[in-house]
Amino acid sequence: MSKLWGGRFTKQTNHLVDEYTASIGFDQALAEEDIEGSLAHVTMLGKCGILPQEDVEKIKAGLNKVLEKIHNNEIEFSVSDEDIHMNVEKNLIAEIGPVGGKLHTGRSRNDQVATDMHLYLRKRVVELSGMLHELQKALVVQARDNLDTIVPGYTHLQRAQPILFAHHLMAYVSMFQRDIERLMDSYKRINVLPLGAGALAGTTFPIDRHFVAEQLQFDRVYENSLDAVSDRDFILEFLSHASIIMMHLSRLSEELVLWSSTEFNFIELDDAFCTGSSIMPQKKNPDVPELVRGKTGRVYGNLMGLLTVLKSLPLAYNKDMQEDKEGMFDTVATLEGALQLFAPMIATMKVNKTRMREAVNKDFSNATDIADFLVGKGLPFRQAHEVIGKTVLYCIQNGKYLLDLTMDEFKQFSELFDDAIYEVLQPETVVNARNVYGGTATDQVADAIKRSEVLMRMTEQWLEEHQ
Ligand code: ARG
Repeated sequence: MSKLWGGRFTKQTNHLVDEYTASIGFDQALAEEDIEGSLAHVTMLGKCGILPQEDVEKIKAGLNKVLEKIHNNEIEFSVSDEDIHMNVEKNLIAEIGPVGGKLHTGRSRNDQVATDMHLYLRKRVVELSGMLHELQKALVVQARDNLDTIVPGYTHLQRAQPILFAHHLMAYVSMFQRDIERLMDSYKRINVLPLGAGALAGTTFPIDRHFVAEQLQFDRVYENSLDAVSDRDFILEFLSHASIIMMHLSRLSEELVLWSSTEFNFIELDDAFCTGSSIMPQKKNPDVPELVRGKTGRVYGNLMGLLTVLKSLPLAYNKDMQEDKEGMFDTVATLEGALQLFAPMIATMKVNKTRMREAVNKDFSNATDIADFLVGKGLPFRQAHEVIGKTVLYCIQNGKYLLDLTMDEFKQFSELFDDAIYEVLQPETVVNARNVYGGTATDQVADAIKRSEVLMRMTEQWLEEHQ
């Protein structure tokens, strides 16, 4: 069969041009959305009296048949039909005859492809929010199990102050909460219908865009037909949110890699989530977090790629915009691949509480608290800082930790020390002293977990409403 747009042409398309310009190789992923949009469109054509009901019924049956065949892998997509839209239409015509050619009345591929992308991304945003939610749940379970696990907290990757391991995990729960909220917010801008914009200017047929929107459950229709067909902000927005999600995952990945090294030995990832070395039999490599860390690069790349494609593009549709798809599909696949592994990997992670405790006992992360102790006795903080600096230096030079010092040794540095200091310096005391909203004290972290569970229930409700 010749091209659907072949009328104006006197020659066959060069086959290299066909191959170069075709998007069917990747946009076949939009088959379902394409047919979903077409079903709504043709129903509207019937309702508005643009097509006789009899034709509408034939076209709908034909579209459903094509969809079924696609699902059963019975359709061979063809590069000479360029993209999913024309491949579906060709197959529809093959299925029901020339009446299939009426489907495209009052529509252009420009508003059609934009509609497909909106439908596609709308589903993915819900799916991905659900996956982030699962990861949060796994983190919260670990946090609950580690409400009594004290670990050094770091700044500059130097031991800073002891914290609850639960508190550390809950930081990620907050990060993923923002990610979910960003995705939920973006849904508002995704859930807008472009169809009815035609190629760029609208259509001469008396269509009803709001009826199409209602059938497809879009909240709104695009205000401006030029904007409708040339807007890809919603994809850019998705790619930026995806980049931030990957950045968060890469930070957690980096910590998992560090923590599972022999040097830290804070956690052990389950065997099911690690791989071995082909030469060094003793090895168990944290490949999953490493690869997630690495794949962050391609997601950033996809964002930069599309920003650059869209830069300076004149209105309205330009073929450049076909380049919006592969990066988006790749980003969805990369995110889903990472998230589907992360939740069970976190859930099965073993926490080496004893080793974490040893690390806390053998460091100076309680130093701030003796400074605060002296401040409590009336010493200005700057002077207290100086006193403790000297005390720590003395310890380092004598191979001791603060809790090893005798009262006489303490008194060398300040007369203000008394026996209470031994209690003040206990890791539990240090942690529980940070009893401020958002701090690491056990009660505070337990409250934070409860608050996060409230937010997580709100996510669940949103997911239910948008399933
Ligand atoms: N495959 C095209 C794309 O993805 C569909 C729109 C084509 N429109 C056109 N006027 N050539 O962008």
